[in-house]
Amino acid sequence: MEIIQKQAEEAVKTMEIIQKQTEEAIKSTDEIQKPTEDTIIDTIIEGIDIVRTFKMGEVEVRALRSVNVRIRRGEFIAIMGPSGSGKTTLLNQLGLLDTPNSGKVIIDGTDTSRLSDSEKGKFRLHNLGYVFQDYALLPELNAMENVYISLIMQGKSKTECESAAAEILSAVGLGDRLQQLPSKMSGGQQQRVSIARALAHSPEVLFADEPCANLDSQTSKEVLDLFEKFNQEKGQTIVMVTHEEWHAEYADRVIRLKDGIIQG
Ligand SMILES: Nc1ncnc2c1ncn2[C@@H]1O[C@H](COP(=O)(O)OP(=O)(O)O)[C@@H](O)[C@H]1O
Ligand SMILES: [Mg+2]
Repeated sequence: MEIIQKQAEEAVKTMEIIQKQTEEAIKSTDEIQKPTEDTIIDTIIEGIDIVRTFKMGEVEVRALRSVNVRIRRGEFIAIMGPSGSGKTTLLNQLGLLDTPNSGKVIIDGTDTSRLSDSEKGKFRLHNLGYVFQDYALLPELNAMENVYISLIMQGKSKTECESAAAEILSAVGLGDRLQQLPSKMSGGQQQRVSIARALAHSPEVLFADEPCANLDSQTSKEVLDLFEKFNQEKGQTIVMVTHEEWHAEYADRVIRLKDGIIQG
């Protein structure tokens, strides 16, 4: 009897220890998961230990080697660095156009590494906007339709999409060219259509990969002035890759990459 009682007492003690450990574990995960005030208010994108390597036959290219970035809501960021330093690769990780080998990207509190491919697609559609150096417009659609089609994909009504498309095209200075086909527009005008398309749904973040690479300096200035306007007037967060120092002067902060590593 005595032995059984002793065993029971031991068992109760063990239970108590386990319970205490569990409570402590819960408490500490609470502490880890609880975002600080700073994260809630300020951080829109956090890239943590991002590694991206590409296999080229036998050779492994280490495009990003454990990159950490934190971007605040409303910031205008320029990503700079020599050709091949990993700028596009970093933009694609932060913009969810590619998946890192390891590390994660948190956008507006969502740990995107936990999203399935289709959830990621929806997240991109509703929360992010993209501008590329080659504009990526649909050639058979006019300016209005190019913007309209991306809004329709978000499930908005036809009238809502039409008025939103016209409004944003006016905001980029193309109110008088709604029916024009891309082939009848200059490079600068085409890029403005693509900016309108990217911003029509008021994305949390606008990503732009060398948006002025194919434009002369006057037209580049017009595009950058537009970015500045949306950043200052609407608080639009912008992450832009560029290799021109004068473009980077528009940004609040420059992230410099070299060989897949952030400098200083
Ligand atoms: N899809 C890919 N397949 C193989 N290598 C790639 C791929 N994308 C990028 N790389 C390599 O990763 C490195 C960084 O590329 P990238 O991010 O495009 O540089 P940047 O935009 O700064 O010019 C380069 O060495 C490039 O060749
Ligand atoms: Mg690039």
